Amino acid sequence: MSDQSYSCRCDHFRALLCPRVCTGPKRSVRRHVESSWCAYAHRATDGSEARSGAPTKMEWTTAPGTGPGAELIGDDLRGWRILELGCGAGHNTAHLADRHAARAVGIDACAHQIRRARSRYTPQLSTAVFRCSDALTALRVPGPDYDAICSVFGAVGLIDPDHLLPLIVRRLRPGGVLAFSVPHPFRPGHRPSPDGSPVPDTLIVPGPLHLPVSRWELDANRWADLLTRVGTQSVRIMEFGVPGRPPAARATLLLRAIKASE
Ligand SMILES: C[S@@+](CC[C@H](N)C(=O)[O-])C[C@H]1O[C@@H](n2cnc3c(N)ncnc32)[C@H](O)[C@@H]1O
Repeated sequence: MSDQSYSCRCDHFRALLCPRVCTGPKRSVRRHVESSWCAYAHRATDGSEARSGAPTKMEWTTAPGTGPGAELIGDDLRGWRILELGCGAGHNTAHLADRHAARAVGIDACAHQIRRARSRYTPQLSTAVFRCSDALTALRVPGPDYDAICSVFGAVGLIDPDHLLPLIVRRLRPGGVLAFSVPHPFRPGHRPSPDGSPVPDTLIVPGPLHLPVSRWELDANRWADLLTRVGTQSVRIMEFGVPGRPPAARATLLLRAIKASE
């Protein structure tokens, strides 16, 4: 790994990429994850620089242009308060605000991602707000309930769901929607965690730099059980591959659930 030569300007990039951190207590693992994601933010490009304005479609999968768009959240999102956890450079949050007139908030633990989102979208979009925050912290900030909370390969799956899901559900209004995508636990070379504990994964960015992260790689039924346990219903499970690859090569797992009415 060429970690030594890597220089990051992110506020969260304090722990650096020290392998010792991986084996430390849980708190250290989280700091380590933030560090890898910040390094990822600086190195990975998503090809969006050439595009002007917010994307015309919300993307939930690894194959842009495939899968549902924002209608997965709801048919008419005008005025909806929607929180995106782990928004990265803010494209989906911007789409929700721009194309659906939602009051959208995107949060990300990496300050560099939030700087990218703000410089790209804040000047044009008054209804999209971007904040640098860990997802657990953001959900604990008091405020009105959200109509929907979403995550696109974002914080859901990167934080212990036993901590995250109850907080999400607490911040949704009754009937509010939770929708999230995660890398498919049966994507080539991977298997779900047998006991629900986090498993190591690697982000590979130009360099090449191999960035270790932890993921809660749960199979669809385990996610559905967790969602039901924390008080959501009508859980929908969707799976997507990548066009041109064998159908068995699943890439994205997408779930949608509704907070039960009180
Ligand atoms: C694979 S990127 C996805 C970004 C964006 N949702 C997208 O689809 O382009 C994962 C994002 O989650 C963020 N993230 C990781 N852990 C987080 C946490 N605990 N709280 C908030 N954001 C987190 C990372 O900084 C990163 O920007």
